[in-house]
Amino acid sequence: MAKAARAGVSVPLPIFIDPPTFTIVESRVRGRILKDASDQAPSLMKFVGVQLAKLHLSGVVHGDFTTSNVLVDQSGTPFIIDFGLGSSSTGLEERGVDLLLMKKSLEANAPSLAKQLFSDFFEGYRETFGEGSDDVLRRSGEIEKRGRYYAERAFERDLPGYLKSWKADGGSLHNGALWHQGSTSQGEEI
Ligand SMILES: Nc1ncnc2c1ncn2[C@@H]1O[C@H](COP(=O)(O)OP(=O)(O)OP(=O)(O)O)[C@@H](O)[C@H]1O
Ligand SMILES: [Mg+2]
Repeated sequence: MAKAARAGVSVPLPIFIDPPTFTIVESRVRGRILKDASDQAPSLMKFVGVQLAKLHLSGVVHGDFTTSNVLVDQSGTPFIIDFGLGSSSTGLEERGVDLLLMKKSLEANAPSLAKQLFSDFFEGYRETFGEGSDDVLRRSGEIEKRGRYYAERAFERDLPGYLKSWKADGGSLHNGALWHQGSTSQGEEI
């Protein structure tokens, strides 16, 4: 978060950071989360794209870049929050995940507007990130196709629900591992 602030990313102002107790005191943003503001102007999404590009250029990935982790204040300025899953990385994969998470959360919040909002977002990202931004977008599309990421998140967030759909899909549970009909002789272990 401190790195992001230094790189000029719009984040709440860090006031006090105490690593031994994992404490961060930061300025309060009065407003709402982007999820509830995503019907707003394209300029807002574009600005969010610019922030993510700045973050990536500074060598940081967010790790949970969803519409719930962007706060929009009363003047319409977005602030990136929740760096709990953030890390130092310049990897295409991690950058692609950040883009994909924004796309997926827009699709979940505002299905009919998501395409346009993501395109506004990516316009800002591309303008600021510059060369290589299309590679990040391409990678996010590949990750989406792979589906790996979603399986992992569904698994982490809603284990009972995940198991139910796994079973409904012909899977079963043996010796603490998930097995699926028609998979390899060893089954598929999660
Ligand atoms: N600087 C801030 N100013 C105002 N409200 C904030 C600020 N930071 C967080 N919040 C509020 O707290 C909520 C949760 O914050 P945050 O996203 O950081 O944590 P989380 O998602 O609950 O936790 P986790 O670290 O487990 O992902 C936000 O949706 C927002 O409403
Ligand atoms: Mg959060």
